[in-house]
Amino acid sequence: MDPAAISTENLTRRSGGLLAVDRINLRVTPGQFFGFLSPNGAGKTLFNAIFQGCLVFACLVLAWLLRFEFHLPYRYLLFTAAPLLIAIRVAAIAQFGLLHGWWRYAGLRDVLGIIKAVLLGSILFFVLMRYVLHATAFPRSIYILEALLTAGALAGVRLLSRVLHESVQSGSGSYKRVMIIGAGLAAETILREIRRPGSGYVALGCLDDDRSKLGIRIHGVPVLGAVEQLPKLLGAHPADEILIAVPSATGSQMRRFVEICEQSHVPFKTVPALRDIIAGEVSIRQLRKVNLEDLLNREPARIDLESVQKQIARRVVLVTGAAGSIGSELCRQILEYSPAKLVCVDQNETGLFYLGHDLSSRLGQTELISCVADIRDVERLRGIFAQHSPLVVFHAAAYKHVPIMELNVQEAVQNNVFALTGLLEVAEAGKCESFVLISSDKAVNPASVMGVTKRIGELILSSRPRNGMRCVSVRFGNVLGSSGSVVPILERQLQANQPLTITHPEIKRFFMTTPEAVALVLQAFAIGEHGDILVLDMGEPIKILELAQSLIRLSGKSEEAVPIRFTGLRVGEKLIEELFYPNEVVHATRFDEIKITRGTIHGWHDLQRLLRELKDSLTIDGAAPVRAKLGEIVPEYSCETKSTDSSDQPILQSRSAVEG
Ligand SMILES: NC(=O)c1ccc[n+]([C@@H]2O[C@H](COP(=O)([O-])OP(=O)(O)OC[C@H]3O[C@@H](n4cnc5c(N)ncnc54)[C@H](O)[C@@H]3O)[C@@H](O)[C@H]2O)c1
Repeated sequence: MDPAAISTENLTRRSGGLLAVDRINLRVTPGQFFGFLSPNGAGKTLFNAIFQGCLVFACLVLAWLLRFEFHLPYRYLLFTAAPLLIAIRVAAIAQFGLLHGWWRYAGLRDVLGIIKAVLLGSILFFVLMRYVLHATAFPRSIYILEALLTAGALAGVRLLSRVLHESVQSGSGSYKRVMIIGAGLAAETILREIRRPGSGYVALGCLDDDRSKLGIRIHGVPVLGAVEQLPKLLGAHPADEILIAVPSATGSQMRRFVEICEQSHVPFKTVPALRDIIAGEVSIRQLRKVNLEDLLNREPARIDLESVQKQIARRVVLVTGAAGSIGSELCRQILEYSPAKLVCVDQNETGLFYLGHDLSSRLGQTELISCVADIRDVERLRGIFAQHSPLVVFHAAAYKHVPIMELNVQEAVQNNVFALTGLLEVAEAGKCESFVLISSDKAVNPASVMGVTKRIGELILSSRPRNGMRCVSVRFGNVLGSSGSVVPILERQLQANQPLTITHPEIKRFFMTTPEAVALVLQAFAIGEHGDILVLDMGEPIKILELAQSLIRLSGKSEEAVPIRFTGLRVGEKLIEELFYPNEVVHATRFDEIKITRGTIHGWHDLQRLLRELKDSLTIDGAAPVRAKLGEIVPEYSCETKSTDSSDQPILQSRSAVEG
């Protein structure tokens, strides 16, 4: 919260009627009154020194009165010792960093500092009085009494300042009263920040399921109970907002927190997830709404960083489709392993521009090269490989939208199959060592042109002879929030107050966060052997309808207020995606989240012949011959598709249809 500027002529009443004036800076926050009208900088330090010096003097006089039954004998001794004592005490106070004015935020550290300062000051004073000035008449009991009184007074003013400040803050409409879920490191950081001037928050308490934390105080804020007690506790401590300060929360923990927050009808926010925390610390500036990723977040994947590092560090790595959702995250994570050079290839020039901008702060020693290129252009690819000699290629460039590819069959084949074969040839000729194809769960029993082209990609990589280049495919389901995917579309509809459209009430998809998927892609790349198809564990598939309902609730709207419309399954769309073919032999790896399969391996020469025939089919009018050839290469491809291509016959084909 911005402090309001006021002038000495323009005194403002605020903070529950208390006059808040800052004489030096002319900038005042409500809490500054409780810094005892303390100005800033050198002025503030001087003010604090004088104020605490006066306290010391008052304590000395009080000690004298207590010692001599409320009389003041030996006044000469008292008044000559006082300046020395005050000077020593103020110097000790300064030495222990107690001249700052933020008494309203004083904590245990300040109390310890006071004890040390008083102890040190007393010893010094005693030694000087006794052995240097030989003031043996100075009563011994006064040394002790004065020390106790001074320690009490120095701590007392701080405590008083803090109590008054907190009561004013909680009574002030300009501060949000917050209840915090979590009493760990993140909560501690948040509470530390809340105590700073102008944070805009007052913390009422923390909730944590760890019973051992019950009753403890973090920066003076008590741990009130377990998280499930939130609705009840809010009765006694009405809050304006709930802050979920558990960055390590898994999706299921987060779903529980959100459910409890929703029951209490109080708005809630969260700190970023662990992976998104910048510089290792949370901050109240990063507080944001809970999003779908938070609810679907899983245990962080266990990555063997060293094995990935070994294959990336100091090498030239090339990523195709670098401007896309998967490609850009690949670039981000690859940079963490310090490649010598990262070559980003995409035909989307604007996308590459933004990617370069985003990556510029993470480059370290890595050289970043942005290549605008169409990967179907083999000559262009040769040029890029000749210039940069990449040793590792991640191939994420592809067309991926199922309904669009149904209408552009030849384009799908050109881009997802023949651009891949061209790239493989160039990479092999360029002495590339490892090639990774980003595949998709749509490649399993494909019902769409897009899916079948991805499957052919897997088959090509599995069947190809190694010839010095290790080729692996990584297969996984949807990543949350990728371009054109269901979540951003639903979010846009919600924002525009439109009904949410879902194709079928029963449709389910696997979901993973992009960073998690890409971290596992890198791990799979590190462990995969030539020809492997590495399949990422996607957890349980999620109903899109439930996803939409969660989105509605997270947006703060009620499910009754936002209609959901079912539009019917689109061409090529399946109700449920699968991760494996029934006949695939699946092998575990040392990583629970990664399985290996090989699937049906075509003889390379057979596959090459089929691919030549597929290429020939592209020259024939219409998509039907292309679809037929696709079905021949991938027997499991079943397309119950009425093509919109006018030259096509309606097609209902599976392998038997094609063969028949
Ligand atoms: N997004 C997901 O949920 C998801 C899940 C599993 C697998 N995949 C697979 O990952 C791959 C990438 O998906 P995405 O979500 O990042 O897609 P995307 O559309 O966000 O990115 C693809 C990128 O490839 C580029 N590209 C396409 N054709 C190109 C060409 N001929 N030359 C140069 N660049 C070209 C595009 O410009 C785009 O930037 C796809 O094969 C997809 O099937 C995606």
